[in-house]
Amino acid sequence: MPPADAPDTAQERRDALKRVYARTQSCTRCPELASTRKSVVFGSGNADADLMFVGEAPGANEDEQGVPFVGQAGKLLDKLLGEIDLVRADVFVLNVLKCRPPNNRDPLPLEIENCKDYLYEQVSLIEPKVICTLGNFATKLLRDDTTGITKLHGQPELLALGRRMVRLYPIFHPAAALYTPRMLQTLRDDFVRLPDLLAMPAPEQPEWLNPPEPEEQPDAEPGLDAQDAASEADQLGLF
Ligand code: URA
Repeated sequence: MPPADAPDTAQERRDALKRVYARTQSCTRCPELASTRKSVVFGSGNADADLMFVGEAPGANEDEQGVPFVGQAGKLLDKLLGEIDLVRADVFVLNVLKCRPPNNRDPLPLEIENCKDYLYEQVSLIEPKVICTLGNFATKLLRDDTTGITKLHGQPELLALGRRMVRLYPIFHPAAALYTPRMLQTLRDDFVRLPDLLAMPAPEQPEWLNPPEPEEQPDAEPGLDAQDAASEADQLGLF
């Protein structure tokens, strides 16, 4: 049961997602990333998707365009989606970090910590049935455990994330499969199981996961107000 004051309809959840979008656009929780980024890459796709993909962090192309997975790894992701009859607009794609780490260095623990509330809010509002973590960073963060992707890939598990129970499905990061045919085959083998996972009933949402809705965060100042954010997200065609 969702809390009484939770956004209810898909449209209300999408509007609430735009308010989260607005807050991320002026985020300065990580001063280094805030001063080096060109864009805050919120995520894109279907705001009511059953399937969500969580990558690591934007790279140079994503930082430039403000959209996740638009480089080579993104092209592979699109190809694999096509092989199971899905397109980007069917799913929601986002990253553990919303800002590009300089020179594509690894995300720092504090940066992951600073950014993770946004991810949980996105999960709460989009309500995916299945979350596919791409590679080690996303898998370790969401499972809150150091077990690596080599051990875990292709094994679905039920997991409480923020305020939602989801089916987590760790798979290799497409960037890792770009130049390693054996890894690409493993990624493909894991990918083809997605339709069966999506056909399973949505995980039950236990009451203990739904404490009263927290106060919605005010817009950060200076920042986009919710109206500007709504039009910006629409103009960019993000979700
Ligand atoms: N790799 C990621 O993890 N995320 C992107 O958005 C692009 C490449």
